[in-house]
Amino acid sequence: MRFTALCTVVAVAVTSARGVPTANTVQSRDIGISLNLGSIFGGADLSSTNHYGAPIPPWEPGCKPGWYYGPHPGDHPDLPCLGGLICKILDLIPFIIHCPPSFPPQTPPSKPPPSGGYSQTFHNITAAVQADDYMTFGLVETVPDCEAMCDSVSGCNFVNTYHDVNGKDGSPLLTCALFSKCHGAQDADNRGGQSQPDGSIDFITNSDGYCKN
Ligand SMILES: *[C@@H]1O[C@H](CO)[C@@H](O)[C@H](O)[C@H]1NC(C)=O
Repeated sequence: MRFTALCTVVAVAVTSARGVPTANTVQSRDIGISLNLGSIFGGADLSSTNHYGAPIPPWEPGCKPGWYYGPHPGDHPDLPCLGGLICKILDLIPFIIHCPPSFPPQTPPSKPPPSGGYSQTFHNITAAVQADDYMTFGLVETVPDCEAMCDSVSGCNFVNTYHDVNGKDGSPLLTCALFSKCHGAQDADNRGGQSQPDGSIDFITNSDGYCKN
């Protein structure tokens, strides 16, 4: 499976890469190799300028989650798995996605996130936030895992979690959309309607918004 391939490549990369990170490569002073991070992620560009792998926002047709953070990465073979050894490489590189400090995620979380937490701005509505300060989106299993991702993305201040089907290839997981500014229900004007490849129409449920304190 592709997941296995991605993670195997990463393990090799970590053991052979120590040294000076640049925007797109990790170079080793010791043995003089240079790794192209695009190849590590199976071609995915997880840099901030590419919205951490999700350049098309989740309210548009053709979008695709940029990453998965949670305890079951094997369920999402086509997404970069944010866990394990890959995190050590990512930590060396500026302007790229970083893993939350805890992996695997604690489910259920035993303590609140170190940031001091989040305040809920809306609860269980059937629409999702659509706004210019969109940063990235991925898939998670719990709201605390989405908040942990926001804590790992520089400038993130708001998370919107919800169930939908747009661009998710049938995944039942929560969409975790990150924004730089806080939003209330008045900004949640994505009410679904996007056509899917299988002919179904997207709809949104269980949408919650949380603003970083
Ligand atoms: C969310 O709203 C739906 C529809 O009104 C309801 O069936 C469901 O129980 C609610 N869930 C929560 C967690 O409040």
